[in-house]
Amino acid sequence: MATVALDSRLSRPTAAFLSRTHKLLIDNEWVSAASGKTFPVYNPATGTVLADVAEADKEDVNRAVRAARRAFDSGPWRRMTGAQRNRLMWKLADLLEQHLEEFAEIESMDNGKPLAVARVADVPFAIEWFRYMGGWATKIGGTTIPWSAPGDFLSYTLREPAGVVGQIIPWNFPLLMAAWKLGPALAAGCTVVLKVAEQTPLSALRLGELIQEAGFPAGVVNILAGYGETAGAALAAHPDVDKVAFTGSTEVGKLIVQAASGNLKRVSLELGGKSPTIVFGDADIERAIPGAASAIFFNHGQCCCAGSRLYAHKSVFDRVLEGVTAEAKKIRVGPGLDPSTDMGPVVSDEQYRRVTGYIESGVRDGAQIVTGGRKVDQNGGYFVEPTVFTNTQPTMKIVQEEIFGPVVCAEPFDDADLERIGRQANDTLYGLAASVWTKDLSKAHKMAGLLRSGTVWINCHNVFDPSLPFGGYKQSGWGRENGAEVLSNYTEFKTVTARL
Ligand code: NAI
Ligand code: MG
Repeated sequence: MATVALDSRLSRPTAAFLSRTHKLLIDNEWVSAASGKTFPVYNPATGTVLADVAEADKEDVNRAVRAARRAFDSGPWRRMTGAQRNRLMWKLADLLEQHLEEFAEIESMDNGKPLAVARVADVPFAIEWFRYMGGWATKIGGTTIPWSAPGDFLSYTLREPAGVVGQIIPWNFPLLMAAWKLGPALAAGCTVVLKVAEQTPLSALRLGELIQEAGFPAGVVNILAGYGETAGAALAAHPDVDKVAFTGSTEVGKLIVQAASGNLKRVSLELGGKSPTIVFGDADIERAIPGAASAIFFNHGQCCCAGSRLYAHKSVFDRVLEGVTAEAKKIRVGPGLDPSTDMGPVVSDEQYRRVTGYIESGVRDGAQIVTGGRKVDQNGGYFVEPTVFTNTQPTMKIVQEEIFGPVVCAEPFDDADLERIGRQANDTLYGLAASVWTKDLSKAHKMAGLLRSGTVWINCHNVFDPSLPFGGYKQSGWGRENGAEVLSNYTEFKTVTARL
């Protein structure tokens, strides 16, 4: 076991949690990996080991799926009413709320994000998600269906839980992504094997303790930490998993689809993006500038919907570029636990190399750095400066590919033809989100119609609510998270017809 360096700023419950042995939650018990292996989890602000965690692999996936199957087929979960499931979910949300500060600290240590952000965004949102989705547990019903053909029949649909669900989540919002995934699956009455990201397993493991405390029956939620290529791949391919839900890279999304084909399990995917922020000449520039900056720099650009391509009309482009550059320069980069930090390190050494590699490729391809572009040398942490590029070409890698770091490409447009602007904005493999900044109502809504993306924000960006469906067109994914729409990922329709 590696020596774990604890930060003296952490509260006692967080320090106590971090010092515990971190195991896997299978069938309501904390167990070591079948192989006995553990893996190190790093503090991205220092590059030192934060915790050692049991490393799940294929055999642990088998055990967890068996537990989830038993819980689904013959446990008390199936006999519970929606109201009972709702109460358990609200209990869990209440427990999370009681431990809000602890979760914010764990999230900040593990992911690198500022503590203040985890406190007002990640943890409260996770709580809201469980409450909102809990409400659906009593409202998932079918319909009666009028007949078209002659005959005396009564037909209706039932909506039943999809079964045993495998869920694979990323590291950018570790707790919140767990809530996005668990919430609808539990509301629908499924049982779950959740595979958390190897970079950031800790908050979900702590959540597992609260799931036990809330009183969920054994096997309903199983939580595995481990690598994607091993545990993740085994879960996606498992023949007794009915449905797999994945959030992460488009590249791995395609592997999930292949792995799922063995038993044709249901698949939903929430993948990457290269979202445009479009600022028109008539926008409220005082709002658009901080809006465009926050669209890319929130969560260090590690958002699937980050506004990583900034297009501004030529009449305002210089002001917008100057303004966003000034905002970037104001951002204080430092450890998440430091109260003066606005932006923490990126999540991992791998991500640090990926983001700085993209910056280097932009420079090589002839794009111009307006601000940023350098590594920030601080204690071995994975810090990258907020970076603004201009003079890019549409074919450059930094314009086409998801960087997932604090890097934006800004370009002017001089078009009045909304369709052409739409075509430029749509010119990527992705179609996750976009924002449009204008005071002209009709232009805003026309643009919303022209953009091939699952979310369009008008005069805002990165705005979320559990009630709003979220997901992608094109290679940004399959299906929708959140809202009523997500429930279709976790339910099957059964049509019942009776001769009268
Ligand atoms: P990734 O897609 O490799 O990882 C996401 C999750 O999938 C993790 O839990 C990982 O363990 C798992 N995974 C990896 N390979 C797998 C496999 N073969 N089978 C099953 N599960 C597997 O993403 P990674 O490597 O962390 O980041 C790479 C890029 O992906 C980022 O730079 C970013 O562009 C994108 N990404 C997008 C996210 C989103 O929210 N849409 C979130 C995280 C990353
Ligand atoms: Mg990967």
